[in-house]
Amino acid sequence: MAGSRKVFIRSYGCQMNVYDSERMEELLAAEGYEATGSPDDADMILLNTCHIREKAAEKVYSELGRFKGLKAEKPDLRIGVAGCVAQAEGEEIIRRQPLVDLVVGPQAYHRLPTMLRRLAAGEKALDTDFPEEDKFDHLPARPAPRRGPTAFLTVQEGCDKFCAFCVVPYTRGAEVSRPARRILAEARALVERGAGEITLLGQNVNAYDDAGTSLAGLVGQLARIDGLERIRFTTSHPRDMGDDLIAALGEEPKLMPYLHLPVQSGSDRILKRMNRGHTAEEYLKLVERIRAARPDILLSGDFIVGFPEETDTDFRDTLALIEAVGYGQAYSFKYSPRPGTPAAERTQVDPDVASDRLTELQALLARQQRAAQEAMVGREVSVLFEKPGRLEGQMVGKSEYLHAVHVSDPNLAPGALKRVRITQSGPNSLSGVIAG
Ligand code: SAH
Ligand code: SF4
Ligand code: F3S
Repeated sequence: MAGSRKVFIRSYGCQMNVYDSERMEELLAAEGYEATGSPDDADMILLNTCHIREKAAEKVYSELGRFKGLKAEKPDLRIGVAGCVAQAEGEEIIRRQPLVDLVVGPQAYHRLPTMLRRLAAGEKALDTDFPEEDKFDHLPARPAPRRGPTAFLTVQEGCDKFCAFCVVPYTRGAEVSRPARRILAEARALVERGAGEITLLGQNVNAYDDAGTSLAGLVGQLARIDGLERIRFTTSHPRDMGDDLIAALGEEPKLMPYLHLPVQSGSDRILKRMNRGHTAEEYLKLVERIRAARPDILLSGDFIVGFPEETDTDFRDTLALIEAVGYGQAYSFKYSPRPGTPAAERTQVDPDVASDRLTELQALLARQQRAAQEAMVGREVSVLFEKPGRLEGQMVGKSEYLHAVHVSDPNLAPGALKRVRITQSGPNSLSGVIAG
């Protein structure tokens, strides 16, 4: 019966998947599915998956295995796989795990209603097309943001860069930018429904180009929306960091001083083999220009250690680059060979050597992260409060630098944007008091 069914969606991987999961949940709501936080009382389970590393992809199969019992108890339970594993493996998923009823790729999920009808007729449903039509034109309008006053908004999808290690160009397709007017309409709807901060998402968000409107141009238009206090964007590629975007970081007060700018390696030899399209020196120069425009910017990065043929010297070059930049935040990974990518065919680094390098690199990044957090003590920052903290009367929000900040003040509510003086730096967050 319509309205009485429940769907449980679990999201893996990047923020684009979080966004897609929200849109799928909204689409399924229109089909009579109410969202539930537990797989146990769901009539449909949807895993929105990530294919970036082997571990991420394998997790999906172990998770699916765990639903066997549930399906035995409840034969009408429908199980679906969405996202990048769905795109990469397609039918193979059903072959490997026959309890899967539905497989839908990241560019085809607007067709879920049709697929559901196939399921209702007792068939399996598979759709991993990259359709001509724009999926965003076929999704319901946005309801209230669920994650408090912050919202994600996908503006660009896909990747044409073909880094030698990466599956994204295969799972998400070519670079496509959504029309600016659609993005502005979606942003206005999100702001009307309580979002004070919007993070613009794209696999290469700074490659955004809508008939000549760049990401900087889009940010400029979004900044004119009353009630939208903060704008962020992620993930940027060093090659697409235009002068206008660098200038905007310095000039647009609503644009937050935080930039995720992955470099992966500090060795020119490895950067070349990765097909990143720039040298370590070029990256450092770029960082210099960004800091000249916005001296207080907090930089974040991604690193891969143990890329095929990486020598100890290459690895030392990566450490040297990290020392030279000084990151406030970072994500680092051991190289994982991915089927179909050029690097998977090359001579692999000994896994123990790669593990040791990862440990050393993470220790350095953790020191930098801690130093950046501790440097906030005594400073005044702006905090957009999101939700209650663990202690009575406490609220947690994010500073402009994306640090979590705890403040004990019974007058604070989610959505409040306040100046806060930082008094203390803890293991994973800061605490402070309302300034003034
Ligand atoms: N578009 C973004 C990255 C998307 S994937 C960019 O160009 O920076 C997120 C991160 O996962 C990458 O930055 C990289 O550090 C890591 N990653 C991608 N493929 C990987 C692989 N095969 N093994 C290990 N890490 C990988
Ligand atoms: Fe992957 Fe490289 Fe594209 Fe980033 S730029 S998504 S790492 S291929
Ligand atoms: Fe993973 Fe796909 Fe995102 S592979 S990182 S979910 S684009």
